[in-house]
Amino acid sequence: MTQDTVLEVKHISKSFPGVKALDDVSFSVRRGSVHVLCGENGAGKSTLMKIINGLYQPDHGETLIRGERVKIDSPIKAGELGISMIFQELNYTPEMSIEESLFAGRWPTRSLGRIDWSAIRSKTLQLLQQENLPFDPETKLKALSISNLQMLEILKAISRDADIIIMDEPTSSISNKEIETLFHKIADLRARGKAIVYISHKMDEIFRIADEISILRDGRVVETRARADFDIDSVIALMVGRALGHGYPKEEVAHGEPVLEVERFSGPTGFRDVSFRVREGEIVGFAGLVGAGRTETARALFGLDPGAHGTIKVRGRTSKIGSVQDSVACGMVMLSEDRRRFGIVPVRDVKENVTLASLAQFFRNGHLHNAMERKKVTDICERINVRMPTIDSPVGTLSGGNQQKVVLSKWMLCNPDILILDEPTRGIDVGAKFEIYKLMTSFVKERKSILMISSELPELIGMCDRIYVMAGGRITGELARAEFSQETIMRYAMNMPKAG
Ligand SMILES: Nc1ncnc2c1ncn2[C@@H]1O[C@H](COP(=O)(O)OP(=O)(O)OP(=O)(O)O)[C@@H](O)[C@H]1O
Ligand SMILES: [Mg+2]
Repeated sequence: MTQDTVLEVKHISKSFPGVKALDDVSFSVRRGSVHVLCGENGAGKSTLMKIINGLYQPDHGETLIRGERVKIDSPIKAGELGISMIFQELNYTPEMSIEESLFAGRWPTRSLGRIDWSAIRSKTLQLLQQENLPFDPETKLKALSISNLQMLEILKAISRDADIIIMDEPTSSISNKEIETLFHKIADLRARGKAIVYISHKMDEIFRIADEISILRDGRVVETRARADFDIDSVIALMVGRALGHGYPKEEVAHGEPVLEVERFSGPTGFRDVSFRVREGEIVGFAGLVGAGRTETARALFGLDPGAHGTIKVRGRTSKIGSVQDSVACGMVMLSEDRRRFGIVPVRDVKENVTLASLAQFFRNGHLHNAMERKKVTDICERINVRMPTIDSPVGTLSGGNQQKVVLSKWMLCNPDILILDEPTRGIDVGAKFEIYKLMTSFVKERKSILMISSELPELIGMCDRIYVMAGGRITGELARAEFSQETIMRYAMNMPKAG
């Protein structure tokens, strides 16, 4: 331990029923530095941070803050010790206002213990101004976007004057512009001597902001080094325990007839005159900035949002708009972007969640064929490496990335003709991403089709046959594989098709 060490954990172990989540983990963080924690889905990253934040108690091991041994038995205690955490899964009270959420649990008071609202208002305004955030203190949290909620969490950490700030995948649902804002904020906090622990699966981010990198594998720290002593390949190899091939598992597949034709599709959620088609065996991408209208188009197409108009033809037959039932009957399914809200039933087990949408396959003479169900679920979970004690564990106890994989397995098992994927690899580790791309390839080789929305350009460029680019609710460009480049896509995404 050096003088600069502000947080240190030693020999921490933690087990849950059926899993050893952390196994003798030691790790320390210096003030004025960004320490990145990497590891596959289920490696134990969130668990370690929840222990530091007092949400979980370790089975063994100790924690030192500024050199002193402490027992962190609650998040309140963690707060008193100068620790603040921004969670992977944002939880908030929709009816609370910004100022209430900033001061909840530590209200400034006046005589007789009355809450001092005017102090709250002026402190909130001061904070918002200092951090350059254009919010109104009275705005309710339910009116904020996910990314604004994330910025507010960061503000909360700052307002508590925390010395140690933990960020668990903070950029999973914010736009590139907001990522830049966040990175400036982090640089600023670091310059003010704060210690930041940062968890991410995005390699480019990790290398931009890390001072140090620690790698967790199967609940153990396998390596800690300064960023300069690492490169991306070595981080990945240490994470997954083997070298991963470069590139994308893309194969040439013959394209057949159009299976999905959408004409002049418009909807109240903000997309206009959208026309596109997807052919048999094709992977078609939708690129664009956050807010371009891609998710909205897909949701309306699948039937999740009402009120859209235009023409949708599936295999040449006109389909009813705005009906999930009709979409599914036509062989179309959608993996939605907000998995927590639309994807899983946390208290039910993995098996039930995976087969939820395809139970009919497993009935024989009116009986559920258990062995067959278990085999199918085991197979698909193995393919994309879902880490869990057994297929009978509740989905809610799986790590964030593994929950995502369960949702993906569910839709893959449905065996649809047209698969709509909205940000399919968000929050998923590099090794499992590669498996998902392979599944996509084998899927289209069976003459099926995929429509993929993604904010990760390399993934679109690597996997798609054609890409449509959207901006401001309209399609601004269509590119064939030979024309793909990040620059061209970005120009269309900003609606500036001509260079210069
Ligand atoms: N409350 C819990 N009950 C049971 N098991 C749990 C619980 N929390 C975590 N686990 C298990 O502990 C292991 C580590 O999970 P953790 O959430 O720390 O992973 P992670 O590294 O954050 O992964 P991800 O990248 O997917 O977020 C997993 O096997 C997970 O299933
Ligand atoms: Mg996690």
